[in-house]
Amino acid sequence: MSEDWKAADAEKTLGSAAKTSGAGEAAFGAAKTAGAEENLDSAAKTSGAGETVAELINASLVYQEPERETPAVERCSFEVKKGELLSLVGPSGCGKTSVLSMLAGIVKPSSGSVLVSGKPPDPRDNQTGYMLQRDHLLDWRTIEDNVLLGLEVKGRLNDETREYALSLLDKCALSAFGGHYPRQLSGGMRQKAALVRTLAFSPELLLLDEPFSALDYQQRLLLSAEVHSIIKRGGYTAVLVTHDISEAIAMGDRIIVFSSRPARVRREIAVELGGGPMERRTDPRFNAYFDLVWGELEGGADNAR
Ligand SMILES: Nc1ncnc2c1ncn2[C@@H]1O[C@H](COP(=O)(O)OP(=O)(O)OP(=O)(O)O)[C@@H](O)[C@H]1O
Ligand SMILES: [Mg+2]
Repeated sequence: MSEDWKAADAEKTLGSAAKTSGAGEAAFGAAKTAGAEENLDSAAKTSGAGETVAELINASLVYQEPERETPAVERCSFEVKKGELLSLVGPSGCGKTSVLSMLAGIVKPSSGSVLVSGKPPDPRDNQTGYMLQRDHLLDWRTIEDNVLLGLEVKGRLNDETREYALSLLDKCALSAFGGHYPRQLSGGMRQKAALVRTLAFSPELLLLDEPFSALDYQQRLLLSAEVHSIIKRGGYTAVLVTHDISEAIAMGDRIIVFSSRPARVRREIAVELGGGPMERRTDPRFNAYFDLVWGELEGGADNAR
């Protein structure tokens, strides 16, 4: 079966409500059509619409270097709603990290705008918590000291913030390891400690860039379920970049599928599966979502050829 047919089949299986927002590139482009507005509305509904925490509005990013220009992101528009976990998937090197860097305020869009809580993000505001693929824990500090380090450096360590950070360690079942050094922990535990360090700031927006990719498959499944539960129970708003389609579906309330570089929004898919990642993976509709995302990624690669 060709990938297009698989995708069409997947759409049928999911039915119209659970399907997608249908909001592809055209819907988010400069000239929005009435139909696209409706699609955006339905996307918002399916994602449990609330207050917008972050948005890209026709945002493009071109890296300027003396010897070359690299267009990384092209006219991207999407929103992240309060309490939502948004998955971003796209081909390798398409510009996913660049999108997160714009949301973190580390780089400014070349055109269009990026807003977090209604204004251009400034990394000094600590509005966003950025968690990377590697945990960047300091080997010579204990887990507890690592977790408190960010607060300490930013001059925000006080009784209240310390208590909050330690309660997060407890939620991640790491309390007993507070006095241990990073080398004494497994890869999954280290990633959890890095997550606690990021959450200790109570960021309005949590940015996760392939946070599980250094882990083996089993650790990855367990940790993604745990992180999903922490994010949901804590009411955090998060954007997760992953190249793993299953992870995007298992974790996300919504998925944005990007094209090859420069990243454009190919499709926005509302994931209407309940429960945590483990339940979702065994849901009979899971494969249909997989085919849908896969079909979009394949289509994007074809267009780039
Ligand atoms: N600071 C930079 N200066 C110049 N070019 C950059 C910079 N950061 C990224 N790029 C280029 O922008 C493009 C997109 O990179 P980016 O890291 O955003 O992609 P990605 O989708 O996150 O990739 P991966 O799947 O490998 O994580 C790449 O061609 C990359 O070489
Ligand atoms: Mg990346």
